[in-house]
Amino acid sequence: MAADHGALELKNDLAVWIRDRHGLEVVDFGVHSTASVDYPDLAASLCRDLLAGDPQDRGILLCGTGLGMSIAANRWPGVRAALCHDAYTARMSRLHNDANVLVLGGRVIGLGVARDLVDVWLVESFEGGRHQRRLDKMEALPQGQDGGNS
Ligand code: RB5
Repeated sequence: MAADHGALELKNDLAVWIRDRHGLEVVDFGVHSTASVDYPDLAASLCRDLLAGDPQDRGILLCGTGLGMSIAANRWPGVRAALCHDAYTARMSRLHNDANVLVLGGRVIGLGVARDLVDVWLVESFEGGRHQRRLDKMEALPQGQDGGNS
């Protein structure tokens, strides 16, 4: 997990929630204070570690809106970051998009909704099949080009 100053409190709460409720190991990349930081730096710390780790590993990024973190994380090839505000989207991000990073906006959603989203997102699995084909098409895109799909 990693958050900027816009979501410190939510990140800390969810870290405890995930450890206690799901029995998962949580690596906390910060932040640990409300001092202003740059969200791409936090996204980079998490994405670098995620991509070097076990394919089953997941990441959770948080900032004020979730927008900056989702834009930053999706610049990392192999990261599929899903900004979610509702349980349906969180579920589908796993079933259809195989999202390996959940992004939440600490100034947008409350604690109860955030915990629900995490609960759904951590237990659902990718369905594969036609959805894998679609992911493969995105993976095949050269960086910064359209991959011949225009
Ligand atoms: C920080 O003020 C805020 O811009 C950041 O948390 C995030 O919302 C950016 O997208």
